[in-house]
Amino acid sequence: MTAARVPDASSSLRASIAAGLAEVRERTLQIVAPVSDVALEAQHSPLMSPILWDLGHIAEFENLWLAVRLGEVVEESALPDVFDAMRTPRSRRGELSLPDRDSMLTRLAEVRANTLELLEAVDFEASANRLIENGFVYELVREHEAQHQETILQTLILVECETYAPTERRRFPAVSGANPGEMVAVPAGRFERGAAPGAFAYDNELPIHSADTGPFEIGRYPVTNGEYIDFMAAGGYRDRRLWSDSGWSWKEDAGLAAPQYWRPEGMSRAFTAAEAEDVARSRGAAGWERVTSLGVEPLRNRDPVVHICYHEAEACARFAGGRLPTETEWEKAAAWDPDTGGSLRYPWGSAQATADLANLDVQGYGVAPIGSFPGGCSPLGCEQLLGDTWEWTSSLFSPYPGFQAYPYDDYSAVFFGDQYMVLRGASWATDAGVARSSFRNWDYPIRRQIFAGFRLARDAVR
Ligand code: AVJ
Ligand code: FE
Repeated sequence: MTAARVPDASSSLRASIAAGLAEVRERTLQIVAPVSDVALEAQHSPLMSPILWDLGHIAEFENLWLAVRLGEVVEESALPDVFDAMRTPRSRRGELSLPDRDSMLTRLAEVRANTLELLEAVDFEASANRLIENGFVYELVREHEAQHQETILQTLILVECETYAPTERRRFPAVSGANPGEMVAVPAGRFERGAAPGAFAYDNELPIHSADTGPFEIGRYPVTNGEYIDFMAAGGYRDRRLWSDSGWSWKEDAGLAAPQYWRPEGMSRAFTAAEAEDVARSRGAAGWERVTSLGVEPLRNRDPVVHICYHEAEACARFAGGRLPTETEWEKAAAWDPDTGGSLRYPWGSAQATADLANLDVQGYGVAPIGSFPGGCSPLGCEQLLGDTWEWTSSLFSPYPGFQAYPYDDYSAVFFGDQYMVLRGASWATDAGVARSSFRNWDYPIRRQIFAGFRLARDAVR
C-alpha cells in the first residue's frame, strides 16, 4: 500500500527545533564577535568564567545531551571534567589552559553539525524516551546556551581592559506618564503556581500546584534608580535599622555605598557611603554615572535599578515602607488571571514575548525606563515583569511539593537549601523563550554582577 508522504508531526517539530537552535547560536556568535582574543581568554573576576570556558561548556553540554545521551550505546557518560561546572568551579577556571577561540568555534560547529544529523533520525512520535517527548531535551539544550549567553554578558559588562561595543543596540527613549512607586492591590486567595504540563519547564517549576497568599500590594513597575537614590540620600547605607544582621555585616565588609558600576560624576577613586549620600542628596540622579565596559552613561531616573545585591534590595524596600515580595506573591502578580482563576504562562498571555512586549533577547544591552511596555502588563496590571531586570524575592530556593529532579540533579536539586535566594522575572539579557512567569532563578544574596533589581511589596492594609 502506498500513501502520499505528508509532513508528519515529527518533521515540523524537527524544523522548529533546528530553527530555535540556529537562532540562539547566531546570538552567541554575535555576542562574542566584537570581543578580543585576550578578553575571551582572561578570567576577569573570580565570580565568572573565562568566556572561552562558557563556549566550551555550551558545546560539551550539547554533545552530552543531544549525542551521547540520545545515542544507542548505553555508557557511563558525563561532561569532560574541564567543562563540568561542578568538578571545575568558577574560581579555578582561570588556571585552565583552554583551546583558543578558533578551536572553540570549530568545536561548537562540529557538535552542532552532529546534532542536526542525529536529529534527522529522531522519531518523536514512536519513541517512548521521555527526553525527547515534545522535543524536551532539545529545548533544555537551547535554554542552556541562552542562559550561558546571559552569564557571558555579565562577564563582558565587567571587563575593564577594553570597551565592549556591540554592533546593534536598541535605544529606549524616555517615557512619561508612568508613576514610580505606584502599587497594585492583590486579593488574598489561592492560585496555580508552577508550569502547566505541555510546554517546556525545568524540574524546579514542577509540579504545578495550588498556592495561597494573603492580601498584598506589589509595585506596578520595578523600583527605579530615582527611588533608589532617595534611599541613598536619606542615609540608607548608614542606617543600621534598615538592614538585616547578615546584610549589614556584608555591606560593611564589602564597603558597599551604591549599586555596582555607579560613581559620582567624574570620580575615579573609591568613595564612601557618606560621600555617596551627599551626592545623592545634592544632585539626585544627575550627579551619578554608570561605568561599565559599554562606556560611561548618565544615570536615568526612570530606569529600573540594576546591579544591587539582595541585602541592598531588602534595605531599600524597608526604607520605602515595604518589603520584598515572596516568590509566590511575585508569581501570582505575574500569572494569575482573576477573570478565569487560571494562570498564564506569560503576563500578557500564552505566546512568547515579541519586541513590543518586553525588553529581552539582548536587544538594548541594558534596561528600558518604566512605562516602556504597557502592552506587556499582567492581568493585574503589573508591567515589565519579564525583561529589563531580574527581581530579588524574599524566598529561599527550595523544591515545590512533589518535586522530582529531572533530567539531572545538578540543574536544581543541588542548589536547594538555605544558601540561595530566588530571583523572578528575566533581564534584558534573557532569551524570550526562557522568560516565563514560572521560571525560577537563584543566586547568593551578596551577588551584584547579575542583572538584578527588585519590585516592592507591602502587606495590604486591612
Ligand atoms: C539558573 C542561572 C542559576 O547559571 O548557574 C547554566 C543556569 N545551569 N548551566 C546558572 C545554568 C547550568 C543557572 N542559573
Ligand atoms: Fe551550564
